[in-house]
Amino acid sequence: MITISLQCSQDAAQIEKLLDDVFGTDRHTKASYSVRSGVTAIAELSFVARIENRVVGTVRFWPVQVQVRNSRAVTQALLLGPLAIDPMVQGCKLGSKLMEVALSTAKAHKAGPILLVGAESYYSRFGFMRLSDHRLALTGGFDADRILVLAGHALASLPKDGIIEPMPSPKRTMAA
Ligand SMILES: CC(C)(COP(=O)(O)OP(=O)(O)OC[C@H]1O[C@@H](n2cnc3c(N)ncnc32)[C@H](O)[C@@H]1OP(=O)(O)O)[C@@H](O)C(=O)NCCC(=O)NCCS
Repeated sequence: MITISLQCSQDAAQIEKLLDDVFGTDRHTKASYSVRSGVTAIAELSFVARIENRVVGTVRFWPVQVQVRNSRAVTQALLLGPLAIDPMVQGCKLGSKLMEVALSTAKAHKAGPILLVGAESYYSRFGFMRLSDHRLALTGGFDADRILVLAGHALASLPKDGIIEPMPSPKRTMAA
């Protein structure tokens, strides 16, 4: 039976192995990792899917901030990802189930807009979209084409022109 629950500390090694299998061992060079650099995932927003003791799915949220360009103003936000499902059980709607649990919990967390870096062709089914009237970039000058935002959730607070960066640790009150 497949179960979805919060990640626990013993899951860490299995999650890393799953991410290597799904995204490759060079995954740390991807744009989304630049925004998670030095940041710890939010424990109460880190989910795994298991078959008995085996981790077959993972999704987490990370505390980030959107720095308004040419300003010191920042907006707190959540970055979703990576979402990965074990190739053995891909295509069985497990990714969708994990997203539903993760998103409903994250919305209740009230920690600002929800962002991710990924394929709109997949994530649009959960309400994510590119915002043509926003100019968002990732810290480090990474390609920003795949930045998606969850429609209708705390969008009013999202700067129209900003840079997404890891949240400095003293401000990470939402992870407590
Ligand atoms: C993408 C992923 C999380 C989806 O989870 P899953 O449990 O396999 O998918 P589900 O069964 O919930 O959904 C399947 C649907 O997603 C679509 N899909 C799967 N991967 C996709 C992708 N990379 N881009 C667009 N659509 C995709 C399938 O075509 C299918 O569409 P349908 O419902 O219209 O038939 C999982 O397949 C995975 O980990 N893939 C490897 C990582 C990856 O490709 N990530 C890219 C997403 S940015």
